[in-house]
Amino acid sequence: MAGSANLNVMMKTARKAGRGLLKDFGEVENLQVSTKGPGDFVSRADKAAEAMIKEELMHARPTYGFLGEEGKEIEGDDPTRRWIVDPLDGTTNFLHGLPHWAVSIALEHKGQIVAGVIYDPVKDEMFYAEKGSGAWMNESRMRVSGRHRLIESIFATGLPFAGRAELPETLQTLARLLPACAGVRRFGAAALDLAYVAAGRYDGFWERGLHAWDIAAGILIVREAGGIIEPLDRDGDILNDGALICANEPIFETFAKVIRPS
Ligand code: IPD
Repeated sequence: MAGSANLNVMMKTARKAGRGLLKDFGEVENLQVSTKGPGDFVSRADKAAEAMIKEELMHARPTYGFLGEEGKEIEGDDPTRRWIVDPLDGTTNFLHGLPHWAVSIALEHKGQIVAGVIYDPVKDEMFYAEKGSGAWMNESRMRVSGRHRLIESIFATGLPFAGRAELPETLQTLARLLPACAGVRRFGAAALDLAYVAAGRYDGFWERGLHAWDIAAGILIVREAGGIIEPLDRDGDILNDGALICANEPIFETFAKVIRPS
């Protein structure tokens, strides 16, 4: 797809950040065996990637605001536009040498996501969308899956870790869903979970406790691929609450009934 100038800037920046992170990822494997482990190294790599992305985007569009995972939000001279960036979604995977992580860049205009890019450098998969122009992976148009039976569908989620409050509710939800579907995956990168729903690899995804930068690009990509995405709590706000549910259209209502507490 021939994208807008903004989309081209986003994709170029995501690729550049991806190249740097890929080099660092090679290093992480060596550090696994060191006594200190790769923790500090990864947090430096994450920060360096965000600094690089911020510099590229702010240079290309000096008036836009910037919200990233690693630093304080920057308000732009143009208050209607901001970049929302996760330089490294799937940090825990990266830290453990698991090849499943991504760079996520979204552009918000007047409170709506208008362009989104999720780049997986390990697999060289670029997922992207612009409002009204469909969703794409590399050169191919993406559509959500066409499955309409829960029992044939697989879903992704995030499992609460390190004492997070959502654990009891997640366990109850899993107890309802697991007997009724073909499987649940927890791959550890919410941006890629959303991209995979758009690509029809997963039939749906839900999670609580996320941040705007984890999901901003993915929200648009799922919608542009024909998926339905809603706040997990009906009257909620996806970006602010970080709680969402999405699926292909035929399955959404049935899936949502199982996931949402009555
Ligand atoms: C994390 C991942 C993970 C999700 C966590 C997020 P990060 O993002 O998206 O899948 O379960 O809640 O924090 O920290 O790797 O950018």
